[in-house]
Amino acid sequence: MSIDVPDQPQFGDPLPATPSPEVLAFFARRRSASALTLRAPGPAADEITTLLRLAARVPDHGKLAPWRFIVLEGAAKDAVAGRLQAIAAARPDAAKAEAALGKFKAPPVAVAVVSSPKPGEIPEWEQLMSAGAVCLTLLNTATAMGYGANWITDWYAYDDAARPVFGLADGERIAGFIYVGSSAEPPMERVRPEVEKLTMRPG
Ligand SMILES: Cc1cc2nc3c(=O)[nH]c(=O)nc-3n(C[C@H](O)[C@H](O)[C@H](O)COP(=O)(O)O)c2cc1C
Repeated sequence: MSIDVPDQPQFGDPLPATPSPEVLAFFARRRSASALTLRAPGPAADEITTLLRLAARVPDHGKLAPWRFIVLEGAAKDAVAGRLQAIAAARPDAAKAEAALGKFKAPPVAVAVVSSPKPGEIPEWEQLMSAGAVCLTLLNTATAMGYGANWITDWYAYDDAARPVFGLADGERIAGFIYVGSSAEPPMERVRPEVEKLTMRPG
């Protein structure tokens, strides 16, 4: 791959915080790319492996890894698109649902992040948020590699008929589809919230 990424640290390795101006510059300007603009080439197999390894480095209360990945590309992705197309056609909003599949079909790579909460004392809410953290880290990692990426849910994340397409077990849910590819046109800045209006500083 074109960008060097350090290997996974060994358990117990010291990992001191170090200033990373490049990371700050990245976050100051990061932007999702429209899924419809994503084209080949997408990440190669070794890049996808790196994407998933880095995406899994998220806060995770209890170290449960309450999420998993489904990587879709090539013929397997086309087959899923075909099954979703049939489900879309049977929906009351068929035309809209079929049109929405354009975002699934265009990108060369789709990674479904499946929230897979585990029983026990860690609140499910926290496990769901950890899955969200995986989605965002995957999105940002793909963008930092120079790809366009977008986090989408859309109807097929919620339609019960689509659950077997993704092999979801009881209790599992799609946290997001992260679409990755080469962006045919650079995204433009969108409206951003005024952070001060959302911030309290008591005292
Ligand atoms: C959980 C979640 C689900 C989303 N689902 C959709 C979707 O189904 N369709 C859509 O157009 N955008 C969806 N979005 C929004 C896109 O990710 C959007 O492109 C993003 O807000 C762009 O912001 P950014 O440039 O700051 O990343 C979703 C966002 C999140 C967090």
